[in-house]
Amino acid sequence: MELIEDKRIRVILNTIRLLMGNDPVHGWPHVLRVLGLSLRIARKLEENNVKVDYNVLVLAVLLHDIGRGLEDLTRIHHSVLSSRIARRILSLLGYDDDTISRVSEAIETHSYSLNKKPKSIEAMILSDADKIDAMGAIGVARAFMLSGIKGRGISETIRHFHEKLLRLENMLYLEESKNIAKRRRVFLEKFLNELLRDLEESKPSIELIEDVDN
Ligand SMILES: [Fe+2]
Repeated sequence: MELIEDKRIRVILNTIRLLMGNDPVHGWPHVLRVLGLSLRIARKLEENNVKVDYNVLVLAVLLHDIGRGLEDLTRIHHSVLSSRIARRILSLLGYDDDTISRVSEAIETHSYSLNKKPKSIEAMILSDADKIDAMGAIGVARAFMLSGIKGRGISETIRHFHEKLLRLENMLYLEESKNIAKRRRVFLEKFLNELLRDLEESKPSIELIEDVDN
């Protein structure tokens, strides 16, 4: 693929890998999974004769969460921060204005919580791939790891399933993404049912203490 020949991509990739570290929830492993999913969706789109700009897509995926670590400090949404940082990096690396604005638009519109609609096909792919990585078995693993970091219990994590994870499938833009996401949504529901069943089964049959939380 001609894209990989561009040394600037390697510079960005290695910088992101170092900068974002091993945090499995939002760090480099997440970026790498979103990259894999994005390329899978893009290839499916191409099979259906939809043209995808891989240069814009890969740059947007690699940089989409770069500002996440600064969100609390700046109180600026990470999509906006990441988009601004991406603009700066791409400009310093000599990318043209068109590429810079398409990449930064894709980054700014990728997030679930900012609720801005993606306009380009590359922006839709990133938005969908980022959401798919929060679904299925990997979504369960990430949700509980995040809960561990935030000190959330099982019942709060179950709330997170209802408030976010189970709604993600309806937020996808592309049919190709929905095909991947369906199995993951079914698994999420199955896991949640099993979890609730386990919790119910483990309830003491006598009242020991009042208001025991999970
Ligand atoms: Fe992300």
